[in-house]
Amino acid sequence: MGVADQGVECIEAAERASLVAWLDDGLRRGHRGTLQREYPLSLHPLHPERHRVVRCEGRLAAHAMVQCVSLRVGEVSLEIGLIGLVYTDPSFRGQGLASRCVEACVETLRREGSVLALLWSDQPGFYRRLGFGPVGRDDLLVADAACLARARTAAAAGSGPEGLQVEPCRAGDLPYLEGMYARKAIHVERPPGALAALVAGPEVEVAVAHRGGAPVAYAARGRGDDFRDIVHEWAGDRAGVLACCERLRGERPALGLLTSPAFEGAAMDLLRAGAVRHPRAFGLARLLDAGALLRAVIDTDPALAGLGAHQQDDRVTFEGDGGSQTIPADECRTILLGSQLAETPPDPDDRLGSLTCLSDSERSALAKRLPWPLYVWGFDSI
Ligand SMILES: CC(C)(COP(=O)(O)OP(=O)(O)OC[C@H]1O[C@@H](n2cnc3c(N)ncnc32)[C@H](O)[C@@H]1OP(=O)(O)O)[C@@H](O)C(=O)NCCC(=O)NCCS
Repeated sequence: MGVADQGVECIEAAERASLVAWLDDGLRRGHRGTLQREYPLSLHPLHPERHRVVRCEGRLAAHAMVQCVSLRVGEVSLEIGLIGLVYTDPSFRGQGLASRCVEACVETLRREGSVLALLWSDQPGFYRRLGFGPVGRDDLLVADAACLARARTAAAAGSGPEGLQVEPCRAGDLPYLEGMYARKAIHVERPPGALAALVAGPEVEVAVAHRGGAPVAYAARGRGDDFRDIVHEWAGDRAGVLACCERLRGERPALGLLTSPAFEGAAMDLLRAGAVRHPRAFGLARLLDAGALLRAVIDTDPALAGLGAHQQDDRVTFEGDGGSQTIPADECRTILLGSQLAETPPDPDDRLGSLTCLSDSERSALAKRLPWPLYVWGFDSI
């Protein structure tokens, strides 16, 4: 059988460890065990069903993995799919194998009811062919020592004397930190105990701020090769987060902090204190169920009660007070999720200009709710 005929398969539980070792060889320069430590939740031994492989000549040739997560935005939870660890053995590249593995992951997500597939890659060209495009926004704020000090002074002025003590994370802190994470405006619903596995990852440093002996904030820097000088997850009291950032900066001239579009307290303090802002697209996504995503956007807004959408492969049909209209799924993705890279007009009303099926009142109500703030914190990405 030629390579072109090889089908995509799932793996047996017994094969999982050797598959991950093969991925370490290809994606982590042969450092066995690295991926397992970087992605303890995604690569959990109890989830062999997340892997899709193609075999050629009796050995592993290509792989992609898929994980469904519940993303909480305000009061709404949505199932989204993450795709990662896409890899083809160098001797089998250019024959469509990785594309087939990614398509198989997308099929799984569609079947399981995910509204979109999300991934991160420095090869957007490869994924564009598979229907993925840039979505959302991710703001990196870079602060030097003086900026952090100004931000801390401003935060303390708002909340009284700091009285904070910053320490490395201890096991007893973790239940408190999980509570702080779960109160964030946008977060993945993690199983209890997940943070213990995540903070034990390679190159991870977590600082915890205490007040009166109780943890009030935390910040996490580093994850394997990623986020070396960047705080990629933080939560809790704003002055506490900034104190943790100061600790994590250490001897570095500056530290980065990633923020969701919710721009919670500490991010606003840093911005006002003069942190340099680097906005970028959040990730690459392919829309799978525009109707369900639109329902999450609309929530209970009575002004949008008559609006709906239905997706059929790469076309989306909208039904509004002004009639019905079909647009390409790519265009719908950018309308619903925005993109820092897309050349979208700054005026939200104009962004909806192509949706002629909307009445004027629907247009202005929808413009206020878009883009839907898709965001996943660093520990949750694959
Ligand atoms: C990227 C990678 C997974 C592609 O695997 P593959 O099995 O060769 O991919 P496919 O054969 O399905 O697709 C290859 C096609 O994509 C195109 N392509 C590959 N990388 C591309 C890129 N960065 N931009 C645009 N097109 C790209 C190729 O030109 C080829 O097109 P063709 O079919 O018209 O000739 C593989 O090169 C790899 O494992 N790289 C190292 C790990 C990695 O970078 N993973 C992705 C990070 S998320």
